[in-house]
Amino acid sequence: WSQTAQKVDGELHVGGLSLPDLVANVNTPAYVLDEADFRSRARAFRDAFAAYDVFYAGKAFLCTAVAGWVQEEGLNLDVCSNGELTVALRAGFDPARIGYHGNNKSLMELRRAVSVGVGRIIVDSFDEIERLASIAGEGLAARVMVRVTAGVEAHTHEYIATAHEDQKFGFSITNGQAFEAVRRVLAAPNLELLGLHSHIGSQIFDSSGFEVAARRVLALHARISDELGVTLPEMDLGGGFGIAYTTQDDPADPAQLATEMSKIVEHECRALGIPEPRLSIEPGRAIVGPAMCTVYTVGTVKEVQLDGGAVRTYVSVDGGMSDNIRTALYDADYSATLASRASAAPPVLSRVVGKHCEAGDIVVKDEFLPGDVRPGDLVAVPGTGAYCRSMASNYNHALRPPVVAVRDGVARVVVRRETEDDLLATDMGDQ
Ligand code: LLP
Repeated sequence: WSQTAQKVDGELHVGGLSLPDLVANVNTPAYVLDEADFRSRARAFRDAFAAYDVFYAGKAFLCTAVAGWVQEEGLNLDVCSNGELTVALRAGFDPARIGYHGNNKSLMELRRAVSVGVGRIIVDSFDEIERLASIAGEGLAARVMVRVTAGVEAHTHEYIATAHEDQKFGFSITNGQAFEAVRRVLAAPNLELLGLHSHIGSQIFDSSGFEVAARRVLALHARISDELGVTLPEMDLGGGFGIAYTTQDDPADPAQLATEMSKIVEHECRALGIPEPRLSIEPGRAIVGPAMCTVYTVGTVKEVQLDGGAVRTYVSVDGGMSDNIRTALYDADYSATLASRASAAPPVLSRVVGKHCEAGDIVVKDEFLPGDVRPGDLVAVPGTGAYCRSMASNYNHALRPPVVAVRDGVARVVVRRETEDDLLATDMGDQ
């Protein structure tokens, strides 16, 4: 839960507002974004990593309001698509403080990024280096980081682990491609190499993966210094810091992370005899994840007999996999709570499901909700700030929900609910 969330007589309050009151104005489903919580998590990273650069990973969630908060709190921004760059620029984000990711950036996308003055491009393939060099040949200089594959098995879901060899991101250190990529960037006029970049995966709790990655990346820094005579000034260790989705998880603490990372970098650099590069990191989930919850209205309640005689209550809400695909896609765990009233009814094993046309449309796999949950009740799901609205879809022609920012008892719609006109806007008919 975000830090301002609390129950008052059974009604959930966030940012000083009661969710039932909020919903009376904005309807459901809706994402509720606790601005104070977002800002304080952003500040916690900025302060803990004061000697470093923190890039907020916009892929977790980005809109112009949030880009503004990120800039006000003194963080930089990581974008990974032309669309995210557009939102950032629309928000007036300083392009010099933007890092641009992606494993398949087109010539046009690169030209745009470089010409608007994006601060760093994280290159991910030889094709991209060639494209960038040709743009630089047009007189547009670019600052570059080379994304490397550190060969780390991060303990997270297969789809979101990115540092093992057999996946699409980065240049392998092991097979020499990373070194070759560095050589080619250094050889290209107008490309300035800032350093190496490694991102090992997402929703990671164990710092040993970062440690191994830092060691391997720094070893490559040392080789580059030995063989090419170039000292790389920076190193980026990516994002991926885990958050608690249920009470079972133990979230990362930015201050502790910063201390651990600094120690590793200092120790390794001393051992390798190279100067310490300036470190940067890219947290997304750890900043926005806990800051948002989704509020739904219950539509139907059904009891289902399980093998062995137990009963599970299926609570259907007015959203589902179109506003939170993470349960279906990554088997993610979430929790839920009755948000609109107090209940003394004994808790029963419940599953919160959506209204889409498939059985995998599950929002919360297992939760004990009061046994008297009924149509019209509000149910809130915490921790939906990261990769929920940003991965939302129009499946079944669902209208994507709004994002409502709350702060000091005031609500502002920062992303409005889609309308049927939005849905039909791209449908050209049979002309
Ligand atoms: N930097 C890079 C290069 C990344 O690829 C990512 C995430 C991040 C930073 C931010 O990671 P975070 O701190 O948010 O974990 N859709 C998946 C997560 C995909 C992550 C992709 N890259 C999910 O819902 O779990």
